[in-house]
Amino acid sequence: MNLDKPLPASTTRCIVVFDQQSHAGSARDIASRLDLPCEMDSAEWDSCFRLQSGNQGWRLVSPKNSGLGILKLDFGRGRLGWRLRQTKRRHPLGRAFGLSSGRDSLEIVDATAGLGRDALTLAALNNRVVLVERHPVIAFLLKDAIKRTAPEEIRKRIMIENAESGEYLRARPFAPDGIYLDPMYPDRGKSALVKQEMRILRALVGADPDSGKLLQSALHSGARRVVVKRPANAPPLGGIIPSHFIKEPNTRYDVYVNKLS
Ligand SMILES: C[S@@+](CC[C@H](N)C(=O)[O-])C[C@H]1O[C@@H](n2cnc3c(N)ncnc32)[C@H](O)[C@@H]1O
Repeated sequence: MNLDKPLPASTTRCIVVFDQQSHAGSARDIASRLDLPCEMDSAEWDSCFRLQSGNQGWRLVSPKNSGLGILKLDFGRGRLGWRLRQTKRRHPLGRAFGLSSGRDSLEIVDATAGLGRDALTLAALNNRVVLVERHPVIAFLLKDAIKRTAPEEIRKRIMIENAESGEYLRARPFAPDGIYLDPMYPDRGKSALVKQEMRILRALVGADPDSGKLLQSALHSGARRVVVKRPANAPPLGGIIPSHFIKEPNTRYDVYVNKLS
């Protein structure tokens, strides 16, 4: 047992496990990169989030009895894979970034990458996208799933950074064309509207209480457009009124156009 080692706050209760000795080497390698403990899987770790490798890539198993289940990202199959192949420019995200057919592709920073669905939709709309995710385990799962399952024409347009986005934006030598923010929605408990994957993500990374500050950083970055995803009837993030918005049944995209850049 190696939990004497204090875990970084951002990865609390997370451990890398392996189920047979032949997987121990790769598990230890990942654990040391993520600064996490690594152990043979056993009931002793049932109360932790467990990062496990399987035949089809890495997955995150939620604590036993949490009712949360397993997080496994796949961009090639299922509804998401189908949606990525069908994405058209009239998609609300494309409209929010002012994309119309025939227009050049943009460089967009997704400053809250999470499970990568919105970022890959933006890449499927022909944009170059930098996914910035501050939680190291989520950034790792994203990298692994994109490498294994994302279609080649999407994969070649994306980059992943494990960083805090305010710092990332300040360190960039030039502003991107657009910045996208989708901070965690307020907790709606076990509502059927909250998908299981998002509940696991929230349990691991917590709420995003600093999202108003991140919007300020995005607005000061020099990007021409900042788009914030909100629940349809929520107030604008940080009380900052957008230039306009695009409303969908459950979601609103608040658009901030920077006229000075
Ligand atoms: C609601 S999720 C985003 C979901 C994502 N749009 C998708 O399509 O899967 C928010 C994510 O943003 C990350 N995040 C929040 N604030 C951040 C920041 N300042 N820098 C980097 N990542 C951040 C959180 O760790 C979380 O994974």
